[in-house]
Amino acid sequence: MSKMTKHRTNEIKSKIKSIAVLCSGGDAPGMNAALRAVVRAGISRGLDVYGIYRGYAGLLEGQIEPLNLRSVANIIQRGGTILKTARCPAFFEKKTRTEAAHLLRRKGIDGLVVIGGDGSYEGAHLLHKENNFPVLGLPGTIDNDIFGSDYTIGFDTAVNTAVEAIDKIRDTASSHDRVFLVEVMGRSSIEIATRVAVCGGAEMVYQPKTKGAFTQLVRLLKKSQSRGKLSSIVIVAEGDHPGHSEDLRRLLKTKAGIEARAAILGHIQRGGSPTALDRFRASAMGAHGIDALLSGKHHHAVCLQKGLLTTVSLSDGIGKRKKSEQSNSEILDLIEILAN
Ligand code: ADP
Ligand code: F6P
Repeated sequence: MSKMTKHRTNEIKSKIKSIAVLCSGGDAPGMNAALRAVVRAGISRGLDVYGIYRGYAGLLEGQIEPLNLRSVANIIQRGGTILKTARCPAFFEKKTRTEAAHLLRRKGIDGLVVIGGDGSYEGAHLLHKENNFPVLGLPGTIDNDIFGSDYTIGFDTAVNTAVEAIDKIRDTASSHDRVFLVEVMGRSSIEIATRVAVCGGAEMVYQPKTKGAFTQLVRLLKKSQSRGKLSSIVIVAEGDHPGHSEDLRRLLKTKAGIEARAAILGHIQRGGSPTALDRFRASAMGAHGIDALLSGKHHHAVCLQKGLLTTVSLSDGIGKRKKSEQSNSEILDLIEILAN
């Protein structure tokens, strides 16, 4: 052990001697980099580290294994998560969460690191609140929709993947003078949609359920056509109905006589090797989180605020919508101006 590592190990006095880590919800590129950081930073602080497979579902089934420095070798560049992930309806029940806390304690585990999105954070929040079990959240979701953090692990890779796809779609759109509706992920968040629209040079972001969105889309496409701009890219935010851009395509044809094609990018945005930015943020957030947990932050999540890593209480974010770094109206205006 180097002098530096010894110093680190002794530096923080904490009751936590052993932690477990899991991935939950939708996977995101960079989850492996975060896992690697948690394991290696944890071990450098003198902790025993366990990996839980398949999120809260695997926790309830006791799919828990010790991890060592080598367990996370050669994974920083890999998409997905080697721990696998899952959605676990049973965790919505208080009784189940209490069972989970007992199970962790029986295994001698004193803290749980959850890499996931806002749903996974809610599970972690309740696990702590009801059972006083120390938890730490790391923001792992392509949606970039976690309250209190300007950034979530996986967002940059997903945006780059989508932009690459749009560059390709643009070739065929302009060859055929066609309108393309490109649907991106993000659920109710439009973070991916707006970023992709700016970087892919799109005409607009179509947000389902927004009053007047269809009229605005038709007006914009007709205006473009009258100016001789015959091929257009419109980014469609998936909202609550993934796949709805196909309905939108039909509506454009029947109601406005506009011929378009729909391309739903779907899960392709969740895969692939993480970008350098996602690897970097995941590594820094993982290590920051370990220190936060050991310094007594037992109900917190790591976040990025104005370029700096910090933590917020998990209860602060429950039920709240993220405030974007740049306001939505500002970025939507930018898209419109740049599409002229
Ligand atoms: P994400 O974490 O990516 O937002 P989900 O919303 O699907 O993904 O949440 C992942 C898992 O977290 C759920 O399957 C469930 O096990 C747990 N979870 C989500 N919301 C809650 C909640 N309100 N109470 C308890 N557990 C929750
Ligand atoms: O939360 C991440 C996300 O990829 C959303 O953008 C998308 O709506 C959802 O997960 C898709 O979930 P599933 O993989 O269960 O289809």
